Amino acid sequence: MWDGGVTPLRYGSQGVLAALTAHRDQDMNPVDLDRKLQHFTRYKVILNRLYSGQSLAAGYLLAIREYVKEIGHPMKKGDPTTEHSSTRAHTSPNRNTEQGLALFKGKAGCIRCHHGPSLTDGRFYNLGVDSSDPGRAAISLLEEDRGRFRTPPLVLLSKTAPYFHNGSAATLETVLQHYTEGAGEAGQIHLNPEEKQALLAFLRTL
Ligand code: HEC
Repeated sequence: MWDGGVTPLRYGSQGVLAALTAHRDQDMNPVDLDRKLQHFTRYKVILNRLYSGQSLAAGYLLAIREYVKEIGHPMKKGDPTTEHSSTRAHTSPNRNTEQGLALFKGKAGCIRCHHGPSLTDGRFYNLGVDSSDPGRAAISLLEEDRGRFRTPPLVLLSKTAPYFHNGSAATLETVLQHYTEGAGEAGQIHLNPEEKQALLAFLRTL
């Protein structure tokens, strides 16, 4: 729901159902979901054990809601761009990641949009990732919002590939490549190969 059609998932369970049913997302209704789940023995066994007496679809939604609650947790820790939050990183800081953080806050200007505890300002921008998708404009009906998507949180990045709203960037290198070539409202960044490696190293600690 990168167009902001519903509140971010971490704020509640409505997002789970909305992502499932929205035409522009998974476009499925609970009845179809129930029918589909009947074909997955493993899911059936687990869901019947955890949520006996519920339909498979209801159990599935409850399970995802629990999971989302759990993965929402790392986002509550401190701001990774401030001094006292190094405990949040999965790898200990070294010269490379420290240079990466400095670039993130300084020359590369990432912090302009990626700031706060989960590194998002919650606003919408067009980074020129996919010109055929109306993005935020489908919700706000404002022409200026065409192609804009919400700044995503940067959390557990090394585990959340692929990247961008349409999953078009398979790796973090590809994401940086996009910013290097000029990323619409985010502008163009100019980094030498060593700086790129440092910024990547920092992103991988998130
Ligand atoms: C003008 C605001 C803005 C700036 C500046 C900006 N970003 Fe982003 N970032 C976004 C938006 C919006 C998206 C989602 C774009 C899309 O998918 O269409 C995004 C997506 C990303 C993603 C993909 C995350 C995911 O889960 O898919 C990464 C990684 C990222 N940005 C890192 C950076 C880095 C590193 C910089 C600095 C070089 C930077 N951003 C600068 C707004 C910004």
